[in-house]
Order: sequence, then C-alpha cells, then structure tokens
Amino acid sequence: MVQPDDASAMTPEAVDRFLGDFLRGRGYTANLHDAAAYSALGQGKRFRPILCMQACVACGGAATAAMAAGGALELVHCFSLVHDDLPALDNDDVRRGRPTLHRHAGEAMAILAGDLMLTLAFSLLAERASTAPGLVRELAVATEGMILGQVHDTLGGLDAALTPLERVERIHANKTGALIVAACRMGVACAAASGAAPPPDAMEAMTRYARSLGMLFQVTDDLLDVTQTSEHVGKRTGKDAAAGKLTYPGLLGVEGAREAARRHAADAHAALSTFGERAEALHRTVKSVLERTR
Ligand code: IPE
Ligand code: IPE
Ligand code: MG
Ligand code: MG
Ligand code: MG
Repeated sequence: MVQPDDASAMTPEAVDRFLGDFLRGRGYTANLHDAAAYSALGQGKRFRPILCMQACVACGGAATAAMAAGGALELVHCFSLVHDDLPALDNDDVRRGRPTLHRHAGEAMAILAGDLMLTLAFSLLAERASTAPGLVRELAVATEGMILGQVHDTLGGLDAALTPLERVERIHANKTGALIVAACRMGVACAAASGAAPPPDAMEAMTRYARSLGMLFQVTDDLLDVTQTSEHVGKRTGKDAAAGKLTYPGLLGVEGAREAARRHAADAHAALSTFGERAEALHRTVKSVLERTR
C-alpha cells in the first residue's frame, strides 16, 4: 500500500534534507545555525516525523503531505533532548554517539539553540505545513505535556496519593507519549487536509494507537538504560537508577517491564484495525519499537 515516493519520504535522510534546507533558509549566523544543525541533524531515528507520515499514509494521504508537520515535531523533540541533557536536568555528556550540545558548544548556546528549535517548530508549521486546522494546537498541547512530564520526572510534584506505578505511567505518558500522540494525530489532520478521506473514527483510533505506542517507546527506553551499553545506544546507560528515576524496570524488574511492553504493543496493533492494509507501516513501527536495541 505504501507508494514508492512515500517510502523514500519516510526515511531519516529525507527528513534531514527537509530540515537542513529549512534551517539554512533562516540565514542565521554560523554559530547559531551550526548549534541547531548539530542537534537537529545528528544521528537520530527521526521516529516522530516518520510516524507522522505513516499516520498520514494510513489515512490515505501522501507521506510528503505530513513532512512539514513531522519536521516541526522533530524540532520540538530535539529541543527537548538538548535541554534534557543539560547539567540542571539529566547532566549527560553523550547523545547520539557524540558530545551533547552543551559539551560541544557550551551551556549558553545549548539553552539558546534549544529555545530556537522550539520556536522554529511553530514557525515551520505557520510557514510551510498544510493548512490543516489544529496542527499548531496539537503541537502546543503536546509540548506542554512533554514539559509537564519532564518536571515530574526531574522535580517530582505529582499527587502523593498516586501509586509509584501510576506516577511512572503519568510521567511517561507526558514526557514521551504526548509528542508521539501529536505525531499520529497531526498525520491524520494532514491527510484530511490534503483531500484524503480517513475513516470516520480515524482520530480516535489513531490516538489509542499512539498512547500505547508512546508508553511502549518509553518502557523500551527504560529497558535500554539497564540492558545496553552506552557505546551501543550512543548515550549514557545505567543512569536512571543512579539518578533515582521512576522507571518500569525499576518498579517491575526487567521481565515485568518486558511484559508491560508486550501488552502496550498488543494494544497498539489492535487500535489499527479501522485502517486496514494502509496501516502496514504503523504495524511495523510497533514491532520495531518492541524489538529495538537503540
Ligand atoms: C529519546 O528519544 C528520548 C525519549 C523520549 C525516550 P529517541 O530514542 O527518539 O532519540 P533519537 O531522536 O533517536 O536520538
Ligand atoms: C527524555 O527521557 C524525555 C524527553 C522529553 C527528552 P529520558 O531522559 O529517559 O531520555 P534519554 O534517555 O536521556 O534519551
Ligand atoms: Mg530525562
Ligand atoms: Mg535523559
Ligand atoms: Mg532514558
């Protein structure tokens, strides 16, 4: 069901070309351009833009109809990583196999380039994305959720009556799940705006898919932290327990976390039934997240 031009758009290389052109077109001085490009174009999976395009394809749209929305999601994601790595948050020196931005360009530039990428995400939506109503709101709500999750992950503040498992679910659903939910919902909106006719329950079904996928994504991130080497994943591992973070393996053990991951994967697959064969790429994504080792 995926057309050849869709397949070539839904790759990290295509997303990088799009974002690279967009960044160069702003005409910033070299120091600011290079800091943003270092973060936005480094070795990343480009998971959220590709997911956004896969959701668009599942609704009958062309992948390219969701490229700008996907680029905006990646810019918010990269901003979140740059700030997540700062000394005041996770204090990490390695990201995507090389020095974190604050180690590479200094803390002031990392803060400012992060601020820039967040802002640029919305510039990109305003200037280049489809006219789908609600894209800006989807991304803004997701960014708020991500920041809320980061606050609770780093500084606590959640209702003391919640159990530790309820707390970790809340943190993961926000810090990681919110952008993944936005990626899928924005894909549906881009498809509809491009003239495709998504199934009537597309938004609801895609949201259910994305909530499960988002949980699965962070549970596997937590598992990688305890099961993989830093060299393999390109970022420090073994850090969550040392930092006292609430994680799935920390609460349920590695096997319990793997079981939870399988449950979220099954829920994600089940949510796709309304899309039929067009959801093939979204099914593959669930499998690849469940099996990922980096
Ligand atoms: C890492 O995200 C941060 C989390 C939300 C778990 P990714 O695993 O998508 O990182 P990159 O973009 O591929 O480096
Ligand atoms: C980060 O979660 C989620 C973000 C919003 C950036 P982590 O702190 O677990 O991500 P890594 O392990 O540093 O990539
Ligand atoms: Mg963190
Ligand atoms: Mg971190
Ligand atoms: Mg992590």
